[in-house]
Amino acid sequence: MTDRLILGIESSCDETGVGIVRLGPDGALELLADEVASSVEEHARFGGVVPEVASRAHLEAMTPTMRRAVERAGVALSDVHAIAVTAGPGLAGALLVGVSAAKAYAAALDKPLYGVNHLAGHVAADTLEHGPLPERCVALLVSGGHSQLLLVEGGLAGRITEIGSTVDDAAGEAYDKVARLLDLPYPGGPPIDRLAKQGDGCAIAFPRGLTGPRDAKYDFSFSGLKTSVARWVERCERAGEEVPLADVAASFQEAVADVLTAKAVRACRDLGVGTMVISGGVAANSRLSGLAAERCAEAGVELRVPRPRLCTDNGAMIAALGAHLVAAGAKPSPLDLSTTPGLPV
Ligand code: KG4
Ligand code: ZN
Repeated sequence: MTDRLILGIESSCDETGVGIVRLGPDGALELLADEVASSVEEHARFGGVVPEVASRAHLEAMTPTMRRAVERAGVALSDVHAIAVTAGPGLAGALLVGVSAAKAYAAALDKPLYGVNHLAGHVAADTLEHGPLPERCVALLVSGGHSQLLLVEGGLAGRITEIGSTVDDAAGEAYDKVARLLDLPYPGGPPIDRLAKQGDGCAIAFPRGLTGPRDAKYDFSFSGLKTSVARWVERCERAGEEVPLADVAASFQEAVADVLTAKAVRACRDLGVGTMVISGGVAANSRLSGLAAERCAEAGVELRVPRPRLCTDNGAMIAALGAHLVAAGAKPSPLDLSTTPGLPV
């Protein structure tokens, strides 16, 4: 069998992504193009993603992004073997733009269409950098929209089970809300990460959600932490004291990284899994990856974190997931594929 080109389209949130990967006869993946157009700046003044604004931005960006990806890969659209698209979870209107585009390309080019799960796509991103997954691995997905612990068995065309998730805010959402409290710009992860480097992570003992003996072992909760930061800032202001911004940022960041890594390593230990993948926008966090590296080393677990560009939403991860499905001989989706905003993993 010869090489096959797989096209991936992503539009679940505020990134319009088109990726192209080459699937070799041995199942190896080569990334040929990864074009992303983001509407993040249009959402900044609202402090979060505005669904209507995101949908319109996808509509405007889809064709130019597709054109750039094809050019970058140096291929012809007619050479594409299959088209993969995020069918959910995500914002309803945003997903519709990507799925409609994918259907149009699939119909016009007479190529098979694969509607795929965005969360599995985040895990697939890692295979573009570190190769195939081992038989079993635990994946920690942390972004502005999701915070999940997954057990992946038999690769990405195999079985993916959600073993834990956030009961309230996603980790990235907590970063964005805390940044707002500290008058830092949106998205809040990068400025908090930078500020935290000048502070002391042990200065303030912010709460670690759901870590009591009776709490769900693998679930997360970040809204109490956010409220606790808000109370702390209010107390300083009432007392007329200057808010120690760097210490608040570092202590908040420590609380998030502590809970995420403790639960993910615990899942590896409990389930006898030797590999952990961390992906999603928050995977770019320096303390999260640092603490995960320390704790994985202690537990004898191999840690895989794709480069930041692949951690955030992109089309390449969707193309990679499509390639794993094609390689496994999975059945394509019907051309009347619908979007599923609340799609479980
Ligand atoms: O995966 P992503 O680009 O989009 C989705 O939400 O799907 O993730 C964006 C999130 C934002 O909440 C942003 O604040 C957070 O990732 N983030 C970070 C860092 N860089 C981005 N959070 C913590 N530390 C960072 N360095
Ligand atoms: Zn995502």
